[in-house]
Amino acid sequence: MNDVKTVYPDFITLDESLALNSKRVEELQLAHMNQYRTQIGLSAGLTFDIVKAEGCHMWDSDGNKRLDFIGCVGVYVLGHNNPRIRDAVLRYLETNPLTMDPMALKPVTAAFAHNMALVTPELTRTVINGGGGAEANEVILKMCRIASARTKTGKTRIVSTLNSFHGKTTGAVNAGGKDVWRRWQTPVPGHVYVPYGDVEAVEEEFKKNDVIMFIAEPIQGEGGIVVPPDDYFYKIRELCDKYDVYMVLDEVQAGSCRTGYIWAHQYYQGLVPDAFTFAKGISDGVLPVSGVQVKEELYMAAYGSFDSAMMHTATYQDNNISAAVALSSLQFMIENDVAGQIRERSAYVWNELELIRQSYPTALEEVRGRGFMIGLKFGKDEDGVGYANAIGTILAQKHRVHTMTSINDDTILRVYPNIATTQEDFDWFLQALKSSIAEVVQA
Ligand SMILES: Cc1ncc(COP(=O)(O)O)c(C=O)c1O
Repeated sequence: MNDVKTVYPDFITLDESLALNSKRVEELQLAHMNQYRTQIGLSAGLTFDIVKAEGCHMWDSDGNKRLDFIGCVGVYVLGHNNPRIRDAVLRYLETNPLTMDPMALKPVTAAFAHNMALVTPELTRTVINGGGGAEANEVILKMCRIASARTKTGKTRIVSTLNSFHGKTTGAVNAGGKDVWRRWQTPVPGHVYVPYGDVEAVEEEFKKNDVIMFIAEPIQGEGGIVVPPDDYFYKIRELCDKYDVYMVLDEVQAGSCRTGYIWAHQYYQGLVPDAFTFAKGISDGVLPVSGVQVKEELYMAAYGSFDSAMMHTATYQDNNISAAVALSSLQFMIENDVAGQIRERSAYVWNELELIRQSYPTALEEVRGRGFMIGLKFGKDEDGVGYANAIGTILAQKHRVHTMTSINDDTILRVYPNIATTQEDFDWFLQALKSSIAEVVQA
């Protein structure tokens, strides 16, 4: 066996990487990774050297305890390093599994798919990816295209909503309703964007009789925690039925109990989309996991024959280890009634936030969202600069409370607690928020 240090004296081993100091990590990131992305976090004062995380807390290398109220924008619904989810991976690896072989039987994935069909009985087919939310959206975009080509000849267009976000791979970014993320790329034809919440605009497009798919987030996340009118998705469902269009919901950020429902669309009693995508929360940050839950008819229209069965495969698709994480997360959600707990426990923070809004009506204009998906809509100073960035920075630097502004909108602060948050943690956040608003508004 070679000594790696003989072959490459500067090789950094895993153990050494885990012991690197933050200065050296910064140097390595600046030299070998996306330098400007690293610089953005550093220059905004929002990059911290986190050495440990548990529940809703994180500890930096100076030993400070910090409150995580963003959780990687929705990943940590079940809390950092939730032992149940972590143990699922270890437990699975202990069985000496054959993890990735595409033709082997897949017990954990099959069980997860079965369990998902119990939670959403009208959507009985599951695809699991070892990837992120964008990949899940790619899977459903392609599935709807193939199904439509086989059953709705001549129709090709996809309607999505302005200000939406579906990820940054080529297909997903074209489905997303923000020009900023589509710069420098040849547009994929056939995408059209309508205002979120506007039913008539959707029907105008559907009337052209060439639309195959409608995709939207149940609550727009990256777009600034925008909640549509309560009847919006029911009306979209009716239109999709009337014009024979697939209705797809992107539950990557709002799903996995975050809004107080296992899947965010379950807030709307009786509403059944043709498919929804999930990622973030179902992984609890243990491994990258995403997936799609699909109605039988749509799945079969795309892949329900031997000649189409191999049209969308991927090395890590339906792998057991990602499924082990997803299955344990789902089990944890059900056993602990995480959705119900979030509905109940979020009431306190929503009431308190409303009182803060009443104290600072010009600074804090609106509190919006649902459950533990909270958006604070701030005003702007006299130079037209939104208060959210300054407040987010003070919260993190002075009060050790981590939230996040909405990228491209300096008036929105996203606040995503997790299920491990206690009353004391909520009060830590609320006191910190009051003090940060006062500091910024009086500055
Ligand atoms: C609604 C929604 N869809 C898709 C994505 C993309 O997920 P990923 O970054 O894991 O590719 C995100 C990420 O923030 C999202 O919020």
